[in-house]
Amino acid sequence: MLTVTHIADLRARLQAWRQQGLRIGFVPTMGNLHNGHLSLIDEARRRADRIVSSVFVNPLQFGPTEDFDRYPRTPVEDARLLESTACDLLFLPTVEEMYPEGRDQATRVFVRGISDTLCGAVRPGHFEGVATVVAKLFGIVQPDVAVFGEKDFQQFTILKRMTQDLSLPIEIVGAPTVRAPDGLAMSSRNRYLGEEERAIAPRLHAALVVARSRVEAGDADRVAIEDEGLAALRDAGMRPDYFAVRDARTLEVPLADAKDLVILAAARLGKARLIDNLRATRA
Ligand code: PAJ
Repeated sequence: MLTVTHIADLRARLQAWRQQGLRIGFVPTMGNLHNGHLSLIDEARRRADRIVSSVFVNPLQFGPTEDFDRYPRTPVEDARLLESTACDLLFLPTVEEMYPEGRDQATRVFVRGISDTLCGAVRPGHFEGVATVVAKLFGIVQPDVAVFGEKDFQQFTILKRMTQDLSLPIEIVGAPTVRAPDGLAMSSRNRYLGEEERAIAPRLHAALVVARSRVEAGDADRVAIEDEGLAALRDAGMRPDYFAVRDARTLEVPLADAKDLVILAAARLGKARLIDNLRATRA
């Protein structure tokens, strides 16, 4: 595996691959890699000949009171882990390489509507930062296919929409959420959890499972399902941001006949903010 920090070096390598007619897969990350990230590399490998992964903690997507400074940065371990996967090239740029004009670069990408709800409502500017950096990374790597985790379902939906709206010739693939045996979705931010909090954290997934059974059993009382979910999170000692049953395609409140749904939740627990979701099919 090759590691490059400069855009020019990355482009040179990618050009050689493209000239050989190889299909390029891309997995962007913020590092501190775990099995969830690694599963995306496996998924990309099934769909492409060469895999590029990026590790970049993107300042643009963190709010002023958020954890940009203390976000776990483990580049040596990340490179070692990626070596053990099908990753061919690690792109590890500095903030200056990505934002030579500073963090106030004039051009931003904002996907209206779906960026304002759920996590977007509690983290203003977050999805603009995500869409902007992913658009830049797409411009740098120009992959044929890019893989994202369904764990961040709203992010995945926004990036799919961005790619479609901007007519980018990139296939966007979602990969299933990788969980600990007790149900907790793997996340770099789980390391903010103390021992007791870690024991409580799986109750977020458990609440989603309860909600999914209600939805799939044909219970149409969306508000009651959401209220029960919120109460379960509070009972567990969490401070929920939202617990919502939505249309899986638009993330809007589902119409009565919508069948393809997603239940999404976010809650604060100690210093961590947990997010998770489950798809549900209404009969
Ligand atoms: P990060 O949180 O590092 O996640 C990188 C990718 O890994 C995302 O597509 C995310 O959905 C996926 N992922 C995280 N945990 C997962 C799990 N338990 N199972 C499956 N996939 C998982 O998401 C970001 O970084 C950034 O916003 C980024 C897209 C890189 C833009 O900066």
